[in-house]
Amino acid sequence: MQLIEDASAQKLRGAYYTPPAIASFILHWGINGSTDADILEPSCGDGVFLEQMAKENMLFHHATAVEYEAVEAEKARAIGLHDSEVINSDFHRFCLDTEQSFDLVVGNPPFIRYQYYDEGQQELAGEIFKKAGLKRSKLTNAWVTFVVGCSLLLKETGKMGFVIPSELLQVTYAQQLRKYLATSFNKINIISFENLVFEEIQQEIVLLLCERTGTGEHLIEHIEVKDAEALQQLDPHRLKLPTKQIDFHADKWTYYFLDKEELDFLNKVRVDGMPKIGTYADVEVGITTGSNGYFTVPQGVVDMYQLHEYARPMVGRSVQVNSLCFTKADWLQNLANGAKANLLVFTPGAKENGNEGTKAYIENGEQQGINKGYKTSIRDDWYVIPSIKLSDALFLRRNNLYPKFVLNDAQAYTTDTMHRVFIKEGLNRKAFVVSYYNSLSFAFAEILGRNFGGGVLELMPSEVEGVYLPYREENAKLFEKVDQMVREKKTADEILDYTDKELLQKGMGFSEKETKMARSIWYKLMGRRLNRETLEKAAPEEKGEIKKAVARVKQLNFFDVLQQYPENIVENAPIVQPTKKQEPDVEMDKNVLISLVKSDNVERYLDQSAKIYYTGKRFPSTVALNKLYYFMPYIKRKGIRDLYLIKIARVGTRKEGQPDNDPNDFRLVFEIEFVKKLFKDYKPVELEIWHTFTDTNLKEVLDKCLKKRKFE
Ligand SMILES: C[S@@+](CC[C@H](N)C(=O)[O-])C[C@H]1O[C@@H](n2cnc3c(N)ncnc32)[C@H](O)[C@@H]1O
Repeated sequence: MQLIEDASAQKLRGAYYTPPAIASFILHWGINGSTDADILEPSCGDGVFLEQMAKENMLFHHATAVEYEAVEAEKARAIGLHDSEVINSDFHRFCLDTEQSFDLVVGNPPFIRYQYYDEGQQELAGEIFKKAGLKRSKLTNAWVTFVVGCSLLLKETGKMGFVIPSELLQVTYAQQLRKYLATSFNKINIISFENLVFEEIQQEIVLLLCERTGTGEHLIEHIEVKDAEALQQLDPHRLKLPTKQIDFHADKWTYYFLDKEELDFLNKVRVDGMPKIGTYADVEVGITTGSNGYFTVPQGVVDMYQLHEYARPMVGRSVQVNSLCFTKADWLQNLANGAKANLLVFTPGAKENGNEGTKAYIENGEQQGINKGYKTSIRDDWYVIPSIKLSDALFLRRNNLYPKFVLNDAQAYTTDTMHRVFIKEGLNRKAFVVSYYNSLSFAFAEILGRNFGGGVLELMPSEVEGVYLPYREENAKLFEKVDQMVREKKTADEILDYTDKELLQKGMGFSEKETKMARSIWYKLMGRRLNRETLEKAAPEEKGEIKKAVARVKQLNFFDVLQQYPENIVENAPIVQPTKKQEPDVEMDKNVLISLVKSDNVERYLDQSAKIYYTGKRFPSTVALNKLYYFMPYIKRKGIRDLYLIKIARVGTRKEGQPDNDPNDFRLVFEIEFVKKLFKDYKPVELEIWHTFTDTNLKEVLDKCLKKRKFE
């Protein structure tokens, strides 16, 4: 596709053209075997969609394309698609003036932020919204108007397929649009991509495929594929039959990639009326100082300027809280570490009446221009911070792994990096805070919050209030133990293993299956959010967990592996079998894959006669395939003992060679050979990935198992 020279002009009209594979996919989905569709492309650019229709000889009744730029419209016209017209006009105008209606709308509408949205167009956009019964906010991006406008031009049973920025799923300015689409369409399919489709603009996009069928149902599906090419392998049946009910209470569409069973489970929690944080507490943003750098200071500054009269304990950053309970001792420790653990709460007139140091500090602020700030300049005394209130608990606003919720025992103030939680009178505070530390509440925090950028999860106060938690007064007795675990930097998995059992299973009567499901939902949501940037920014103690979290959700695409390795993935030379008395040599630095074996295969592993291992349908994408060497079967309730060599690893099918083989049921296949017993008895280890695999090396296996240490 041709991209015009002037990048900024291009950007201003939101013009990045669709890859042909995507245009083709949307058209096939939309036309779906019909021959008489009236089709609209509202912002056709140089005509990618038209060109694809021409190339693939698609059948239709008539195609109308609109394009604002005369030069581009001329290019689109030059394609010469039969039964089509290209109108050089502003879509807003076209939308309001036309009397035509369409069976299918396809396209990639312009992404134009409100600052660059022409004023005249904004007015027309307002009219389009009004026609749809919606209110338009000034912040709305152009693509939203195109989607709303096109839906107005659809026939009663029409379809609409767009390339849309992925922010559709979560931004506030598209919230009304999500509701509108959910109510005015009956089937919605969202397709997202693991890899960036528009590399040059770093814009993440999704395909939004909406269908009006005239029925009363409102179903949705979210499928993720690797890239544009992978669309060809997508099962069209899944697109025809989305199965998930749209949840009209939810503001975001970020979790419809979960399984139906998982969504039903979350819904059941809601319907069954589990309480929320908001049931027991009011959540407010922390204190807005106007300049955290100026008003929060370490002890050294308090001493130097003699600010003791105004200094109050405060806690401001996630690194300053590492427990369930922020105590006076924690605060003193922060102070001793030189943290900015004091908030300067000046009183009116402090500039005139304060001591010399106070005067100097305030004047210093004026020299730096702190008094001219947006927030400080509107105050009577610029240095007097309003809304100074102490809260019972604190909820961190931005988090990498999971949002922390902490009891404020130290009576510390906090700035806008944490939310203030005011717990209702008479509630057991310890029980309340500890009740939040479970997989289900963490999952709801993911659902309600948003990806702030770089994979960081941000929750605003109303979103915190919406987090469900299995509160029971009896939970208070868990508080000390969980607090201790967090202080000892136990991993989230270790903490949740304990709390899920206590809070969800014993406390709420969840079955083991439901408890596991809650954990797996949390993993999926968190793993999808986390990315490389999060990993770089994370505190050292969080890094390992984040890596694991990503590994848990990213699956290997067997089909891609087959393309890459049409023969074998690895072929390892057989072990030289020594004479009877000697043991075969093992190579300590070689990789070992520990894998759970299915119960119906256990016998062959117990007597060491196993020759072949098939993985399940899913395999983590984090295992280095070209380094596969040793294999250790993990026997349920026993652990590991025997070492095998992976002679060959390849992609195969589960029932290869059998009459009922499904040629599409791909698995990884290991042809294995028993090497030796590594230990006399079975040793327990942690299966780190999906409770099924651990990818490690021989040295580590020996180190950890012989020292009888738990795997970390
Ligand atoms: C993201 S490009 C997509 C072009 C084409 N649909 C494709 O998929 O390759 C958006 C197009 O919208 C056009 N455009 C911008 N504002 C428009 C408007 N108000 N009316 C019609 N087209 C507009 C731009 O000139 C640009 O060609």
